[in-house]
Amino acid sequence: MRIIFATHNKNKIIEVRQILGEVASDIVAKSELGIDFEPVETGKTFADNAELKAAGIRSYMLAHGMLKDDDIIMSDDSGLCVNYMFGLPGIYSARYLGEDTSYEEKNARIIHELRFAQGEERAAHFTCNICAVFADGRVFHTEGLFEGLIAEEPKGTNGFGYDPILYLPEYGKTSAELTPEEKNSMSHRGKALRAMRDLLKKVFEEDKKKGINQAAFPENKEDSGLVRPFQTILVVSDSHHKDENLKDVLSRLGMIDFLVHLGDAEGTEGMIQQYAGDGVKCYFVQGNNDFFNDLPRDIVAEFGNHKCFMTHGHYYGVNFDMTQLAEEAKLRGCDIAMFGHTHKPFLKVVNGVTCINPGSISFPRQIDRRPSYMVIDINEEGEFKYHQVYLDRK
Ligand code: IMP
Repeated sequence: MRIIFATHNKNKIIEVRQILGEVASDIVAKSELGIDFEPVETGKTFADNAELKAAGIRSYMLAHGMLKDDDIIMSDDSGLCVNYMFGLPGIYSARYLGEDTSYEEKNARIIHELRFAQGEERAAHFTCNICAVFADGRVFHTEGLFEGLIAEEPKGTNGFGYDPILYLPEYGKTSAELTPEEKNSMSHRGKALRAMRDLLKKVFEEDKKKGINQAAFPENKEDSGLVRPFQTILVVSDSHHKDENLKDVLSRLGMIDFLVHLGDAEGTEGMIQQYAGDGVKCYFVQGNNDFFNDLPRDIVAEFGNHKCFMTHGHYYGVNFDMTQLAEEAKLRGCDIAMFGHTHKPFLKVVNGVTCINPGSISFPRQIDRRPSYMVIDINEEGEFKYHQVYLDRK
């Protein structure tokens, strides 16, 4: 199993190797694989940005034939959050007052902003969010905090960035006065990395029990050769009467066994069945824009080893979170819930149920606005392998 860490920073890679070396023998920086692609950090939270980076690199590797079955792409996003400044500079830490402004200036400005703040009002912390995106599309996050107070004046020369102004009352020192070893043992990044190590151990254990991604286990490496899919499901949603992309995908994909449309086809179901061909079993559920038809609201069907709950999602509050959807799927004995409606790709295990949204094939709404769909390959043992695929923006 290989971890590709999305950073150029050599010190970060050293720390990552020290902590995650226990769960992965091969840990490389993306630059070591010759990847110079830099996903744009347009998120509103550390978690958004960490995920954008990791998922972006995964898509890049997939598109360039570099992604191995047992790869994990990982990235972090961190920054300083100052309570008195309503959490700023936060995700803007590197860009605060401009990328080219020195940290002497940035630190002096923060101390000035807090000139009337006393005691606990000076509370601040570094946050680090780490995101791991598996080759099969699963996404995991961990987060670590490093808490202190904004110092009255900068002190110390170790570390970097805002270290000289984060004062740690219990040590009587700023973060820049700690040795690198001391800082690593208590820092936000160290905590998030250790949490990620523990989380990965659990995920691997669970996967092993379920027989997923055996290649991730060194002892099974010999068995990790490519398995030709036994059956294939094309999962799409929210085509809204605009089917050019779907037609295109169907003509390029070749043989599929099932097509799942998760709602809002808006009357073109018959046409879609025709494009797919007679041999393809198509499932259509009713979306919130599908009027004048008798499509089912939900469908439960078995594929391979899995029982899937298929629904558009608007009855289960998917615009807010997936807990209701996961509960409903569980009630119906399903371990997978497929939904649409949000027009945003999604693949996460929520309360034990793998929740999947292929995004919209015609009207994408996620940040990069690329139409998307999902292909699920089923092997002879009935195991699923997920491929989230994106089309170019038109
Ligand atoms: P990155 O996401 O790790 O690149 O961190 C973004 C920005 O947050 C950095 O450019 C620093 O300004 C700030 N930052 C993150 N971690 C630390 C730290 O440990 N010490 C000081 N500044 C940090």
